Amino acid sequence: MFDDYLTWKPFFDIVPMQDSDCRPASELHGQRFSRQWSEEEMLALLAQDGVFGFSALQSNAFFSRPLGGFVLSREVAGEAEILTIAVGEKLGRTGLGWRLMQAALREAEVRGAETMFLEVAENNVAAVGLYQRLGFLQVARRPAYYTGTDGTRTAALVMRRDLR
Ligand SMILES: CC(C)(COP(=O)(O)OP(=O)(O)OC[C@H]1O[C@@H](n2cnc3c(N)ncnc32)[C@H](O)[C@@H]1OP(=O)(O)O)[C@@H](O)C(=O)NCCC(=O)NCCS
Repeated sequence: MFDDYLTWKPFFDIVPMQDSDCRPASELHGQRFSRQWSEEEMLALLAQDGVFGFSALQSNAFFSRPLGGFVLSREVAGEAEILTIAVGEKLGRTGLGWRLMQAALREAEVRGAETMFLEVAENNVAAVGLYQRLGFLQVARRPAYYTGTDGTRTAALVMRRDLR
């Protein structure tokens, strides 16, 4: 029993994102990005044609089901894009980003997308590593595209993965 307690770890289900996930998703977005997307922005996005998302909801929680991560994506006329993805900092490198991206890639394909695009800061080692491992290739580089809170400019990489 005590051993069970010591080895307890959270498990997560990847499920389609619901309106009720937008508040915790906004909070998580604020923790992981310099400009937070509000709950209202998330709700408005999710309501748009072609936009879909997935949430990682804890399955072995006691009361509510905490959100461990989420991804938002859009598919229009055969082209999909990742709008944003975030995983809780303490849950990093436990496979949630991978599972969320797999769900988004599958759904984009089901919706008829031929390719998926995304944009990522060149110095975002974790995200670039994740996307490369998923088979995304760099197709463009936009110098000095992002400006950090301290004014530092960082290039954006545009990456693409064929889905068919
Ligand atoms: C990018 C992010 C979503 C990755 O999620 P994650 O759940 O930590 O990633 P996973 O555990 O699924 O990792 C899958 C693979 O991605 C790569 N990866 C993940 N984190 C990495 C890191 N810190 N350094 C290098 N590669 C990394 C590895 O190839 C990893 O596979 P491995 O653990 O078997 O080596 C997460 O770090 C995050 O939310 N970052 C802040 C928000 C953000 O930058 N979003 C992307 C904006 S474009």
